Amino acid sequence: MLPAMSLPIGLLTSGGDAPGMNAVLRVMTKLAVSRGVPVVGVENGYSGLLEGRMRALTEASDGGGLGVDSDVDLLGAVGGTILGSAREPRFLTAQGRAPAVEALKALRGLVVVGGNGSLRGAHALATESGTPVVGVPASIDHDVGCTGLSIGVDTALNTIVSSCDRICDTARAHHRAFVVEVMGRDCGYLAMAAAVAMGAEAVLFREQGRDEESLVVAVESAIRQAFSERGKRRVLILKAEGVKTPCTRLVRLVADRLSDLRDVDVRATVLGHLVRGGAPSFRDRMVAGRLGMVAVESVLRGHTDTMVAWQPLVAGGEKTSDPSVFRFPLEQVLAESDALVDGTSPITQRRVSMMDAIEGVLGV
Ligand code: F6P
Repeated sequence: MLPAMSLPIGLLTSGGDAPGMNAVLRVMTKLAVSRGVPVVGVENGYSGLLEGRMRALTEASDGGGLGVDSDVDLLGAVGGTILGSAREPRFLTAQGRAPAVEALKALRGLVVVGGNGSLRGAHALATESGTPVVGVPASIDHDVGCTGLSIGVDTALNTIVSSCDRICDTARAHHRAFVVEVMGRDCGYLAMAAAVAMGAEAVLFREQGRDEESLVVAVESAIRQAFSERGKRRVLILKAEGVKTPCTRLVRLVADRLSDLRDVDVRATVLGHLVRGGAPSFRDRMVAGRLGMVAVESVLRGHTDTMVAWQPLVAGGEKTSDPSVFRFPLEQVLAESDALVDGTSPITQRRVSMMDAIEGVLGV
């Protein structure tokens, strides 16, 4: 076996892809090349690690040194992930992970780019192996603890806003109400943030804890107020994926109650995976660049079981070479992620109370 210093660093993208994953792969490969360290990409997330599917992301350059694979360089600005991604059920048990722990012996360290499920896998690998494992938060859902931003959130919000602008064009032309569902799994942040950015009439998200009847009442009253009292030409309601009543059912239930209003048409649009694709925004590329640099530096210095986090406002954690990037233990990240979803996090409580406070304003 090669001495640890000459082993390559492994990069892996896992879980739902997020715009900016390629940008972070590019910067990490560049930084490693600048330090003379070869890089391999693990294909298809943890499935590839279990099955030993890896490809070189660095190549010998004409001058005899190391260069960056042309795909990595060229596709840094493209959405998705050139390495492929997967959700790997075998990774849920120590027995299932065993071949991956073995595969890590051929690496100097591993950087895992992904959301909470992927970071949980990274934490397990760090605990079970002697190889440094570092996480980089990347998920459109905005549900990863300890970081002010995950790669992909900004692009997803830009896509939601531009899609809603288009929906509003046609809604105004036909005097229609639209309930637009956006992804986010159990986290309502994308719906909340987009509702504020769009000046939507209402927003529905799981953390509000509304039953189906209250959802219907909220949508019905937003539509009545907008069309009957305020004479608006369109109504836009953002619904988070975490609200379990399907969009089409909600719209049908609401339409039944609005039969007394003339010329009111209520429609449902689910943006779905549209929001996960596309070229990363400036902000996602910039954050990807800065997180990626510190992630590789961290591996080279032997840090493990840790995640690099975007924290422009200092909030604890261990300082790194970038004043806005901090390292947090993965265990703390995962505990904070759980709290974001179960509602015990002060961040979730603040979001819910802020949205409560502006509910009346949204309807105006
Ligand atoms: O975690 C990202 C995400 O897009 C969630 O918003 C969504 O619930 C989920 O992934 C969808 O996953 P899949 O593409 O595997 O159906």
